[in-house]
Amino acid sequence: MNWYDLARGLHILAVIAWMAGLLFLPRLYAYDAEQAGKPEPLRTEMRTLLRTWQRRLLKIILNPAMGLAWVFGLWLIHLDVQMRGAAFLAEPWMVAKLLGVVALSGWHGFLSAEFRRIEAGTSKKSSRFWRMTNEIPFLIAIVMVISVTTEWTFG
Ligand code: HEM
Repeated sequence: MNWYDLARGLHILAVIAWMAGLLFLPRLYAYDAEQAGKPEPLRTEMRTLLRTWQRRLLKIILNPAMGLAWVFGLWLIHLDVQMRGAAFLAEPWMVAKLLGVVALSGWHGFLSAEFRRIEAGTSKKSSRFWRMTNEIPFLIAIVMVISVTTEWTFG
């Protein structure tokens, strides 16, 4: 068995779970924000349910999936450096990939912080905000995946 092929398979699985969570969580935040105009006790009941789903998605799927995507990604870097040296880390496609990693990790951190604000009742974000930003992680993922599969460069 080849360790590199195992590492990339595990990396892709972790990334699938991470992306699924990043795409679904803001949708739950949008539904939560939309409860503002609903009558009681429906509003509180809906928010209790939505926040249970938000918490579980963050703790059971998103946080472990991000951790594993990082672990297997760093393992891939280690194996890559052994096979072809460290120069690929400075190639445009890899720089784009790593910038994407930073952007997605930052977005993940922001969603985590927002969960704490939503629970505390201090979040200022509207349903419209969550619906408008929802596609951003997927656009970043397109750039990242095409970068690693094509290893594009300038000229
Ligand atoms: C979390 C930090 C991450 C690190 C450190 C990392 C690092 C890496 C490395 C070093 C490779 C091997 C590149 C090569 O030589 O071909 C790789 C492959 C790949 N990564 Fe990541 N990555 C991360 C996150 C992600 C994310 C978020 C996505 C998708 C949105 C992604 C998608 C892929 C894909 C599709 C491959 C190609 C696997 C293959 O060889 O078939 N990675 N990653």
